[in-house]
Amino acid sequence: MNHLVSPSLLAADFLNLGRDVAMVNSSMADWIHLDIMDGVFVPNISFGLPVVEHVRKIAEKPLDVHLMIIDPDRYLSRFHEAGADILTVQYEACTHLHRTVTEIKRLGMRAGVAINPHTPVSLLVNVLPFADMILIMTVDPGFGGQSFIHESYNKIRELRRMINENGYNVVIEVDGGIDITNASGLVEAGVDVLVAGNAVFSSPDPCETIKRLKELY
Ligand code: DX5
Ligand code: ZN
Repeated sequence: MNHLVSPSLLAADFLNLGRDVAMVNSSMADWIHLDIMDGVFVPNISFGLPVVEHVRKIAEKPLDVHLMIIDPDRYLSRFHEAGADILTVQYEACTHLHRTVTEIKRLGMRAGVAINPHTPVSLLVNVLPFADMILIMTVDPGFGGQSFIHESYNKIRELRRMINENGYNVVIEVDGGIDITNASGLVEAGVDVLVAGNAVFSSPDPCETIKRLKELY
């Protein structure tokens, strides 16, 4: 599979969000990544449902919504109504993960499960049969612009092996500190979807940076 690129709007210019979404529409990006933070699961608050709803009105790509919130079951249908296409919950925030993932899929969305840097991929052995996507956090969630955690490569390779050996239909996404210097290695290690925030929006030519992340030249 050719890898996908999902620019994270957390690094966009919030005063010109429409302009930045239009840039992503016109780019080679595949999805649009939206980070929802509650100030409890992570030590930061980002934006919520109204922003997702408004982005949906102009977005021409699937919305890849990453919930960094406790007890996400309370909001699954609200994010579906707001326009999420892929909805990812944090493994560490879910007591009944099977129920949560089943509900996300019943609502008609693709279901992702994110794991923090300290969470081993071996804990996913009973999650892979029912998840659509695993998001390996490559920084501690909460903020954009952090440094990529190198140990993540081992987790990616191990997860890729678990998926391939069992023939699961699950894609691997990585998120945090992704840029043009590590993107190729990540895809080689088995990543399907690259999330990038600052690497895209803080670059002189965001559209060209997305192209480079997509084509990896
Ligand atoms: C971090 C978020 C990321 C963030 C990535 O908690 O989940 O999606 O936007 O930003 P960069 O690419 O700047 O590390
Ligand atoms: Zn994210």
